[in-house]
Amino acid sequence: MKWALKRDQKTEEQIEKLVKELTLDEKISMIHGAGLFQTGAVERLGIPPLKCSDGPMGVRNEFHNEKWVPSGNNDDYVTYLPSNSALASSWNTKLAWKAGYVLGEEARGRGKDVILAPGINLKRDPLCGRNFEYMSEDPKLAAALAVPFIKGVQENDVAACVKHFACNVQETDRLMVDTIVDDRTLYEIYLPAFKAAVQEGGSYSLMGAYNRINGTHCCENKQLLDGILREEWGYDGTVISDWGAVHKMKEAAEVTMDVEMSVYPDFDDYKLANPLKEAIEKGEVPESVVDSKVRNILRMMFRLKMIGKQQSTRKAGSYNDPVHREITLRTAEESMILLKNESGKLPLERKKIRKLAVIGQNAAKVHSDGGGSAEIKALYEICPLMGIKAYLGGNTEVIYAPGYYVPEKPKTFDTNWQEKSLEEQEEEKAAQREKEKLLIHEQNVRLFEEALRAAKEADEVIFVGGLNHDFDSEGLDRADMKLPYEQDMLIEELLKVRKDVIITLIGGSPVEMPWRHHAETILWSYYAGMETGNAFAEILFGEVNPSGKLAETFPARYEDCVTAKNGQSGIQGSISLSERFYFGYRYFDKERIAPAFCFGHGLSYTQFAYSNLSLKQEKDGTGALKVSFSIKNTGKKAGAEVVQLYVAPIAPKVERPAKELKSFAKVKLQPGKSEKITLTLTHQDFAYFDSDKHDFTVNSGDYEILVGTSSEDIRLKGLYTL
Ligand code: BGC
Repeated sequence: MKWALKRDQKTEEQIEKLVKELTLDEKISMIHGAGLFQTGAVERLGIPPLKCSDGPMGVRNEFHNEKWVPSGNNDDYVTYLPSNSALASSWNTKLAWKAGYVLGEEARGRGKDVILAPGINLKRDPLCGRNFEYMSEDPKLAAALAVPFIKGVQENDVAACVKHFACNVQETDRLMVDTIVDDRTLYEIYLPAFKAAVQEGGSYSLMGAYNRINGTHCCENKQLLDGILREEWGYDGTVISDWGAVHKMKEAAEVTMDVEMSVYPDFDDYKLANPLKEAIEKGEVPESVVDSKVRNILRMMFRLKMIGKQQSTRKAGSYNDPVHREITLRTAEESMILLKNESGKLPLERKKIRKLAVIGQNAAKVHSDGGGSAEIKALYEICPLMGIKAYLGGNTEVIYAPGYYVPEKPKTFDTNWQEKSLEEQEEEKAAQREKEKLLIHEQNVRLFEEALRAAKEADEVIFVGGLNHDFDSEGLDRADMKLPYEQDMLIEELLKVRKDVIITLIGGSPVEMPWRHHAETILWSYYAGMETGNAFAEILFGEVNPSGKLAETFPARYEDCVTAKNGQSGIQGSISLSERFYFGYRYFDKERIAPAFCFGHGLSYTQFAYSNLSLKQEKDGTGALKVSFSIKNTGKKAGAEVVQLYVAPIAPKVERPAKELKSFAKVKLQPGKSEKITLTLTHQDFAYFDSDKHDFTVNSGDYEILVGTSSEDIRLKGLYTL
């Protein structure tokens, strides 16, 4: 793929002119924070500050410039979009563009230049606290969704800031942890989504991660920034440090990392502020390194129409537009995943239900205000209980029982969360967890009783449990993969009372479901934005046919994951990715372990039949292979299917995963209708990274072409000899 951004000669000349005119002080002011979310301006030359904002699920509320305290205004409520994990489960690239567009338009509407999103780190371990902000365990899927998302954002003259580059696989010890990774794993697994983000998505900016890679912090890492990003990928956009990710002045100055941001208000003491200036004045660091950073920043400003004649044509953006809510609803609907519907219980029929029991804390909880920097001051958030009640109206009695106890965590701003999140708080947290366990157990006695009573009385029972942002959060990793608050016990009890309880879970990362064989119906939702409750009701009552598919494996038990043996998130110091590509479905395939629900799994209220696979080699010399097949909706309802194409090398000359996702499409079909699908595999789709040659290589040989409805449910197979 070609580098998506074109350099414009005239702009380059203007940039050079400005660089010459700027004094050292002015240039220095442009390359570090002059506020928690903005850089310095040079008014004399018409250079504005660069205004940044979190985050992936919507534009974050305003903070005071110098302290992590919200400004407390009432004009910064916004559209709360589905998290990246929800968006990825839609497997819908058009929707990814639209969601990105909404985020960009809102960011611009709020006067921002850079929106710190999307998060595209690969999900190596289900316990990583920020997985809810990321897309997938698979590089191809993450890339395919990140590219349109970025384009959608940037359509609004706002820069996406793709994060966190790179190998940010855990939260524990996040400022110092050293991720040890070999070249092949880096190039095949952890880098492709970032490469696609800059080369195909044309992301104007990128965030350097907190962690180290092979000993060197990402924001000071020559191999990562100068070598891979700039030289190999030809990137000329802006690299912004994660907040507090710069440690060494000289190293950060001399690598092509352009803007230092941090969490502290002593802006003049940032490494790229006075310390760098002094080093330049003493002749220890050449001024040219600052010029090169300023060039990258100015180039982005020109692209965003922030400076120069084009300013008047810059898009104005808007926030809280009703269209944004519509797109949020569509995304939520397509993101929810029907994991099990054994007896065809779903969809429910509204008219048959006189009394409905809704049980579980997540039915009545809103999640927008948690998770760390991804928190949102949502204009509103419809919880599942409200969505269900609003859908059913007054003719159905809805009884609600919380079912289990969730300790309250009042949000205080005097603790300065963002700053504190960079410190180790493990011991403090562990002690608190122990105290809470006792309290939960005490309270649950009564709550269980009440829930079981409600379940007995009602015509239908919907349980809504799962996780919340006390678990899915920046700055911490989960200790295990279990449902908290004794939910497993409650679910088992409920299923004893009646096996037709509809189990629905909301969370940002996989949980163990030890009761899954007893449950007939299981629906999963990630944090799906302000319209969660409406989407929920529409799916439960059949207004919408579910079409989400898992973008990550749901293991049966945490012990089944490779990370349980090889570096569980939570390690201090250094974490070795020596399992290489073998995590997620690549690992479960290799070890032949059956997960609870596999990568790519998700059911519909209709059925699809696959037929007529044909493979055709393009004769244009590109080595592309056209894979065609038919898909038919054989059920009674309109629905959408995500068709997945995997490539499985047969007897490869070098070690390779058993199969890898290489393409997919989402197809909407009316009942009885069929469509011919053609997916193209490029030469690169057969390649692996040869570390000796430092390049991708394709070996001749036999490859199985697998077309399926999930990574395990393969419907068509073909043989391709390359
Ligand atoms: C997070 C980033 C975030 C930044 C600014 C950091 O702690 O890691 O993802 O964008 O803070 O809030």
